[in-house]
Amino acid sequence: MSTAPGLFVCFEGGDGAGKSTQVRLLAEALERAGRDVLVTRQPGGTPLGARIRELVLHGDHVSPRAEALLFAADKAHHVDELIRPALAGGRVVVIDRYTDSSIAYQGAGRDLGADEIRQLQHWAVGGLFPDLTVLLDVAPEVGRARRGDVHDRLESEADAFHAAVRQGFLDLAAREPDRYVVVDAALPPEEIHDRVMSRLADVLAGRP
Ligand code: TYD
Repeated sequence: MSTAPGLFVCFEGGDGAGKSTQVRLLAEALERAGRDVLVTRQPGGTPLGARIRELVLHGDHVSPRAEALLFAADKAHHVDELIRPALAGGRVVVIDRYTDSSIAYQGAGRDLGADEIRQLQHWAVGGLFPDLTVLLDVAPEVGRARRGDVHDRLESEADAFHAAVRQGFLDLAAREPDRYVVVDAALPPEEIHDRVMSRLADVLAGRP
């Protein structure tokens, strides 16, 4: 299937939403169907991204604007180095977090303004957006219970921060219903996966 056009699928949602399980299930299903799949995540995914990840998630205090710029720098590099070449080669890219995470966490959570962060992210990724974004919607208290011990700067924020992030994601999905599927993260993983597959089939059917 290497002649198939590239396909870009993104998983978004609050901490503890179960994204990594869904990324794995989708990648396995696509590989079984004969697709060449690149699984990656943000922040991270490249050697520079891994260093940015360490700085922004596990370092000392980072001012909100610096945090937004670090996440944007990770994306700019990641898109140029990995994502565009993979899509140009006809691969499927399945990514754990992308631009919406910044719009929700830095824009809504940190209160930097969703529109400004959207512009920053748009510039950073050169206007490359997913064919489909799966939003795993999770209530802050459910996410907190699921992720167990707090282990990074963002996860350790209060429930009010995570509630603003959740609303930020829902607002994005509501703006572009054709490009999103919103699924309740409390559903059993197999049922979530089935919904993702069925929506992806619709997206593929609508492609030239
Ligand atoms: P994630 O990789 O999902 O965490 P982990 O795998 O360690 O559970 O995400 C790391 C954190 O980074 C998460 O709290 C969301 C945050 N984040 C932003 O604030 N902005 C961004 O642009 C991205 C990509 C992530």
